[in-house]
Amino acid sequence: MEKGMRIAISTGGGDAPGLNAVIKAVVMGADSRNWEVYGIKNGYAGLLNADEIVRLTPAMVHDICSLGGTIIGTTNKGNPFKMPITNVAGETEIRDVSDKVIDNFKRLRFGCLIAVGGDGSLEIAYNFHKKGMPIIGVPKTIDNDICSTVVTFGFDTAVNIATEAIDRLHSTAKSHDRVMVVEVMGRHAGWIALHSGVAGSANVVLIPEIPFNIEKICDHISELELHGHHYAIVVVAEGAAPLGGRVLDRGNGEVGRQDVVLGGVGEYVAKEIARGTGKDTRSLVLGHLQRGGSPTTFDRLMGLRFGAAAVRIAGEKKFGTMVALNPPLVTAVPLSDVIGQIKNVPTENDTMITAREIGISFGD
Ligand code: F6P
Repeated sequence: MEKGMRIAISTGGGDAPGLNAVIKAVVMGADSRNWEVYGIKNGYAGLLNADEIVRLTPAMVHDICSLGGTIIGTTNKGNPFKMPITNVAGETEIRDVSDKVIDNFKRLRFGCLIAVGGDGSLEIAYNFHKKGMPIIGVPKTIDNDICSTVVTFGFDTAVNIATEAIDRLHSTAKSHDRVMVVEVMGRHAGWIALHSGVAGSANVVLIPEIPFNIEKICDHISELELHGHHYAIVVVAEGAAPLGGRVLDRGNGEVGRQDVVLGGVGEYVAKEIARGTGKDTRSLVLGHLQRGGSPTTFDRLMGLRFGAAAVRIAGEKKFGTMVALNPPLVTAVPLSDVIGQIKNVPTENDTMITAREIGISFGD
């Protein structure tokens, strides 16, 4: 076992419930080996600034498992390979500051960076790995769209929040004989919509993997009406799109942000349903409620297991890897197998087959 290793840990991208459990397990696992852990605040770019690097001790983390968010902060904008820098003339230029990050990493005598993040952050991790940095990825996202792992932490909490919201919509929709359309997160994968929609007894679930047809949705709702079911719940993933149409987004107005913020499809679907069925229809966007608050037991355990495994893997010097759930084990998979692709819902997915058998329409 390496003596006195100094481990750096960063959390990047959108937060997800369970991040603090990862941090706790990394700190405790390292401490049990007499290693030290340093939290890099606000993503990779924190490595450029000494003020952003904090020693994390067991006393600081023993009770953080139940907390949402991340105690070391996160950002969607801190890609050191494409960093926005404002020059003296006040203009913003995009620069590659990755060598500076690596120099600081070496100067601080870190033996490993545990990079907790979603697809964007893991791609940055892979790029650092290619430049020789000893790095281990930990998959994080409520979207559950990372390849090579059965699940990511954060997903279970998001699904539970969405399911509870859908449960609540039933009574108000029923009282008013309305159609309620709820837009949930998930980016270009339909996992949150599928799981919460099926568990929450939605009538229609729209996911990015299946382009929807508004006429089919309206027919399904009208059919329900004929059978005395005068209200309907429609769950739509933010990345879902009509057949031949495009995914709606709110742009990427923030400097340094590479991805667009999705949104708007719920409102679009609600208007089209109102037009097609004549029914009173309302829409809502669940938004960041899905990411806030305390993680479920499952996500806490997943975060703890991923964090502990990352420290174990650091001890084995298996760098350039990501911890992954391959039941019953948490294993190390090459980062190269993970990046540049997303894990979509397969159409032969058992939950989807079940959904169809219990009368849920996918608008196809
Ligand atoms: O990736 C997690 C996620 O919550 C997505 O589901 C969503 O599209 C995005 O982040 C929202 O990003 P932001 O927090 O920047 O609005």
